[in-house]
Amino acid sequence: MSVNVGRRLKEAGIKWVEEDAENKDVYVPTDEMKEKAYFSDERIYAEANNNPEEFWAKQAKELIYWFDEWDADKVVNLEPPYFNWFVGNGTNLSYNCLDRHLEENRNKAAIIWEPEPEDEAHEVLTYMDIYREVNKFANVLKHLGVKKGSPVTIWMPMIPETAIAALACQRIGAWHSIVYTAFAPHAVRERMEDAGSKILITVDGFYRRGKIIELKKRIDEGEILEKVGAENCVVVRRANSEVGMKEGRDHYYDKLMKDAEAYCEPEVITSNDYGFLLYTSGTTGKPKAVMHSCGAYSVGVALTMKLVADLHPDDLFWSTADIGWITGHSYALYGPLLIGATVLWYEGAPDYPDVSRWWGIIEKYGVTIFYTAPTAIRALRAAGDEWIEGHDFSSLRLLASVGEPIDPDTWKWFFEKIGESRCPLVDTYWQTETGGILLSSLPGIGPFVPGVAGPALPGVRYDVLDANGEPVKQEESGYLVVKPPFIPSMLRGLYKNPEKYVEEYWSRYGTDTYFSGDGAIKTGMEIGGQTLIKVTGRIDDVMEVAGHRLGTAELEEVVQDLEEVVDVAVVGKQDAIKGEVPALFVVLEKGVEKSNEDMDREIVKAVRDKVGPVATPEVTYYVSDLPETESGKIIRRFLKGLVRNELLGDMTTARNPECLKELAEVTQYRGPQKIPGYTGTAHLGNE
Ligand code: WTA
Repeated sequence: MSVNVGRRLKEAGIKWVEEDAENKDVYVPTDEMKEKAYFSDERIYAEANNNPEEFWAKQAKELIYWFDEWDADKVVNLEPPYFNWFVGNGTNLSYNCLDRHLEENRNKAAIIWEPEPEDEAHEVLTYMDIYREVNKFANVLKHLGVKKGSPVTIWMPMIPETAIAALACQRIGAWHSIVYTAFAPHAVRERMEDAGSKILITVDGFYRRGKIIELKKRIDEGEILEKVGAENCVVVRRANSEVGMKEGRDHYYDKLMKDAEAYCEPEVITSNDYGFLLYTSGTTGKPKAVMHSCGAYSVGVALTMKLVADLHPDDLFWSTADIGWITGHSYALYGPLLIGATVLWYEGAPDYPDVSRWWGIIEKYGVTIFYTAPTAIRALRAAGDEWIEGHDFSSLRLLASVGEPIDPDTWKWFFEKIGESRCPLVDTYWQTETGGILLSSLPGIGPFVPGVAGPALPGVRYDVLDANGEPVKQEESGYLVVKPPFIPSMLRGLYKNPEKYVEEYWSRYGTDTYFSGDGAIKTGMEIGGQTLIKVTGRIDDVMEVAGHRLGTAELEEVVQDLEEVVDVAVVGKQDAIKGEVPALFVVLEKGVEKSNEDMDREIVKAVRDKVGPVATPEVTYYVSDLPETESGKIIRRFLKGLVRNELLGDMTTARNPECLKELAEVTQYRGPQKIPGYTGTAHLGNE
């Protein structure tokens, strides 16, 4: 254990509400980190919280270039549940990421790209390179009829053209809607239809675990472009695989770029406009499009890059998140470029050609800040420490985690083996909806507590409430909420779905309290007057599968569509590597002749085809009935308790509690609750 980072609580000047805190693992920053970090004085919390609006306004002025300054009296216009930051502002994200760095940094590396095939050379794109390409592609988009406010669907992997396409949309004020490549073509269709998008940007193929994943071919096979009535499809040639191209509709990127004009004036995007759409899973069968702003989002992202990632212009930052997720948007693309730093993009799988690939990349390029997800760390750790031996991690100075709670064991392994007990490890909690990090300890201030995300950022009013809306006491659990004035990078609504927006986030506690959907515990620790929070996970019907957010309802809809299926319920089951995996309970029609194995195959195929491989079910339990309320609503907490071996809770609310015996049998329940008729080993100790 490092003597430097691993100083004990007593020396750290951290307030602990409880007396016996001394044995807890608490780490504080090294002196080196304190010196380097932008923020190392905990008084920042008090300063910011005294007047959050003033704090954000000051940051906004420093971090972003505004064509039109906002009205000084209107830092934020709150009309809950809607809010508008920096009222009257005008800016452009592509201008802020590119143009303004040109004078001093035109030849600096903006993106270093590592292709998956090891025999292919890496690429370095300077700020000038990207600027040039973005301007041209913005003109291409305009020629294809894309305008300010047009939705543009992008189904692309981690290659430089994806960054260029996204920034080109920003330049002309079009709204990109980027779809994760491990989703199915059907997911592209759904998102194009919902957004009314008439253009798709994709690739012929890309490399994943040594194979070529042919995206355009899969779009054609599903006749997606025909079904959504797409007018244009731009195809980037990445893998040189053969693709069908429909005359007049499908265009090769390189051909279009040849004749494109060199400069495109950036559109002025105001506080009333939107910056982009990103579909995410909620409690309904269909993903919904979170709408983000432009200027206010940029402020949140740029500030968190400095506050939490401590990104300096000389850093090499690597966020392993795919661009199809919000982390890819905020911290693999916009954040690093807003700061004018260098970011690393890697095309392929973490375990290709073997599980040391990531460690080799850190060493090869000298990554200084490494941001990844607990599921990846667990998988790489499970492969054995021999894969990290001999790798030089001395360039690293900060580690960060995101996507799900990181368990203390994994935390410590990551901290000790990769961070060499030298680098602070920040556990960053946030959501697609918050646009940027919401909770995290700050690298120059700390403390870093395994399993505890930390306090909210300076300037954020947050709390943990009980079911009645009362703040819980220290050491108690409840639901994480954010209070006015909220944060600039938060969503501005759900596209075409204002009712859902109110229902998901603003109905539980009213319109002046943002409901996160996550359970949380007040840890009893405080820094700068702010309570450190441990996030326990979603309390709604959303799963985090290998850090990927998936709605149980999305899977249910697909399985329900199968002819033989009468009823289905999906819950998240714990998994040692992936955190959570989908477990299905299925009631089949009477007299179905197919074997369970055949049904398994059909279900897996349907899920992979309609949602994508990320959602592949781990296990399906075939049962004769599902527990329901009197009004016919499936009681998911029973199912969750069964697969997780936890308490099921009050069983008298069920219309048909007798079905629980069979469910306990198929799931081989070993939890603490006594289930009438069930004679498994489960409850015996409790009787
Ligand atoms: C979960 C990803 C615990 C949480 C940025 C949240 C976390 C959901 C953490 C959002 C963390 C994310 N600790 N849980 N550090 N980070 N989550 O929208 O349940 O893909 O609500 O955004 O991930 O997932 P999303």
